[in-house]
Amino acid sequence: MAADPPAETLALERMILSAMASSVLALDDQLAVRFVNPAAEQLFGASRTMLENRPLADLIPFDSSLFDLIRRVQLAGNSVSDYGVELPLNRNSTRLVDLHVSPVAEQAGYSLVVLHPCAVAQRLNHQLTHRGGARSIAGLGATLAHEVKNPLSGIRGAAQLLEHGVADEERPLIRLICDETDRICGLVDRMEQFADHGPIERRPVNIYQVLEHVRRLAESGFGRKLRFEANYDPSLPPVDGDRDQLVQVFLNLVKNAAEAAPANGGEIRLSTQYTHGLWLRVANSSERVELPITVQIQDNGSGISPEVAGHLFEPFVSTKRSGSGLGLSLVAKIVGDHGGVVEFDTTPRGTLFRVRLPAWRGDGRSDPQ
Ligand SMILES: Nc1ncnc2c1ncn2[C@@H]1O[C@H](COP(=O)(O)OP(=O)(O)OP(=O)(O)O)[C@@H](O)[C@H]1O
Ligand SMILES: [Mg+2]
Repeated sequence: MAADPPAETLALERMILSAMASSVLALDDQLAVRFVNPAAEQLFGASRTMLENRPLADLIPFDSSLFDLIRRVQLAGNSVSDYGVELPLNRNSTRLVDLHVSPVAEQAGYSLVVLHPCAVAQRLNHQLTHRGGARSIAGLGATLAHEVKNPLSGIRGAAQLLEHGVADEERPLIRLICDETDRICGLVDRMEQFADHGPIERRPVNIYQVLEHVRRLAESGFGRKLRFEANYDPSLPPVDGDRDQLVQVFLNLVKNAAEAAPANGGEIRLSTQYTHGLWLRVANSSERVELPITVQIQDNGSGISPEVAGHLFEPFVSTKRSGSGLGLSLVAKIVGDHGGVVEFDTTPRGTLFRVRLPAWRGDGRSDPQ
């Protein structure tokens, strides 16, 4: 039998585990946590003493694919990995991680779980997959405008003509027809905003002015009862983009934030900052774009429910009674057309949307690589 490792080797091993950026958890055969490193403490937002000896199911919902991986390791006895997994944490937030689970040879039934946060660029690429949904309704919007809006205006016109001939008690029915046709026309109008009008007209856009414009609109309308806080980086270069489309992006995000914020004590924070060294590979090409401009919109609402969070940027996903579910889909499309990305972090205490955009390079193009 091998001798126990000397004390200094054990100390060195602990030091290495402490220094690791990946979260490491050792689980016993009952799936109780027996060891965590500091990165895991950070991931779960709790100290070692709080985490050790607790069932893993207290930390991660039982239906997470992590449990499948552990079961596979326990059955087959070899290591398994899964990449780019959305790991739900119990505080309603999710993390994109690479998972590695391996058996512990020296301790029967034990398994070692390593959770490695996906690189920022990969996280962003993950967000890019949402763009497709928005694109697919561009054509649908145009078809609906033609096939639905025209007959609808005929129906509305006919109903208005009838209004004069009907008895008073039947008039509300005519109103109902008019209101509902207006509602459908409004929906089709929003879908038409997705139509592709060719490449966007890029100009140097002062993002501070865009955000202040949106804030003024919000403060005098839908966000009247909320407190706004702004924290802008004054040295930010202009964005390489289309001002009107960027207003639409931030108006949609601020409107959602306003709708999520509590009626009493609702707060929205707008901020900008410069991010160094964030490059994103353009889909299906070898071109890379730098995205140094970060805009954040944060609310203190109760967060995005997990069922919705996975489909947030898809069209027609809404939890609101009169919501069309097109707002974020349009945001994803416009930001994507700019070569940027949109991400979010959500907890039951609030949600933060982060939009990353390219900077104006003087000749009208962001620096291709
Ligand atoms: N800041 C936020 N906080 C909590 N939930 C949000 C937030 N932003 C978006 N959501 C959720 O995402 C869903 C989709 O948002 P989206 O803007 O696409 O549509 P909508 O706001 O429901 O309708 P529309 O924007 O068309 O009026 C919302 O219904 C809501 O459930
Ligand atoms: Mg919305």
